[in-house]
Amino acid sequence: MARRDRLLTPLGLKEWWYHQLHKWVPVTKYAPYGRGPGPHTTPRSTVPPGGGNGREAPIPAKSLGRPGLDEQEYLDSGEEQIRLMIGELEKAGYSFRDGMRVLEFGCSSGRMTRWLHLLPVEQKEVYGCDIFADAVRWASLNLNPDYRFFTNTTMPHLPFADGSVDLVYAGSVFSHIYELADAWLLEIHRMLSEQGVAYLTIREKYEIELFEGKRSHTMIAKWLREDPASREAAHSDFSAMELGGFRNPNVFYDLDDFTRRVQPHLEVRGVVREAFFGQTAVILGRARRS
Ligand SMILES: C[S@@+](CC[C@H](N)C(=O)[O-])C[C@H]1O[C@@H](n2cnc3c(N)ncnc32)[C@H](O)[C@@H]1O
Repeated sequence: MARRDRLLTPLGLKEWWYHQLHKWVPVTKYAPYGRGPGPHTTPRSTVPPGGGNGREAPIPAKSLGRPGLDEQEYLDSGEEQIRLMIGELEKAGYSFRDGMRVLEFGCSSGRMTRWLHLLPVEQKEVYGCDIFADAVRWASLNLNPDYRFFTNTTMPHLPFADGSVDLVYAGSVFSHIYELADAWLLEIHRMLSEQGVAYLTIREKYEIELFEGKRSHTMIAKWLREDPASREAAHSDFSAMELGGFRNPNVFYDLDDFTRRVQPHLEVRGVVREAFFGQTAVILGRARRS
């Protein structure tokens, strides 16, 4: 579809408007607390030591990082995805070690973090971070009080020393980062310890096939059916593709190109299709020379 024709569709107009609005704003951002008039306080966590794990912790409201999932799906999907991650990391030769430091990048209200008591270790240090401050606060008030949650910004930096994190995982976060993805991959490389690994889920061309089949009920599938320009882009020979515009990017990769993109500093040690709903998990380790 010609650029001009697309601009005259409701979706084209909306994307154009967002683009004008955001063209000149600084892109480093986070979503602050949605406060009303003050004063404001942050309460103390009332979760007892060792509590706040798995099914025993409360479930956040839909507006706090539970979009499109009922309570049962919220719990079951988090448990299933963490169990899968543990199994796949073991298959890829990763050894969980006592005292390890784990970071969930883009944890929201901790749908996956709440299952980290399943990691096969006695002792661990757990951190979760997200740009969504309200969800981060919910996690720190309602999940395991030994875990530390913090709000970060979209700037590709996290407050950990070089080589100090043993496992970084991110479920559907790189599927929402476009321009800054390479810089975030370098930041993950910087933080990873010598034997450390990253387990990141991405959207890739394989998922586009799923949208035309068993995942045809999803929002993105509907979008691909209804927007000819997005459908055309999805079937083009892309290395990376973004649908949805600056405000809500949905990023897809060609898997071979993604594998090259992380080099030479990282290497792909495993690929798990449909690890996170329709998304593919990629297991990355430091490349031997880095
Ligand atoms: C689809 S949600 C997934 C949330 C969570 N990982 C889960 O599995 O339930 C994507 C999350 O990534 C977060 N996010 C997007 N860009 C981010 C960034 N640069 N740094 C940290 N979090 C980010 C969003 O705020 C959102 O909470």
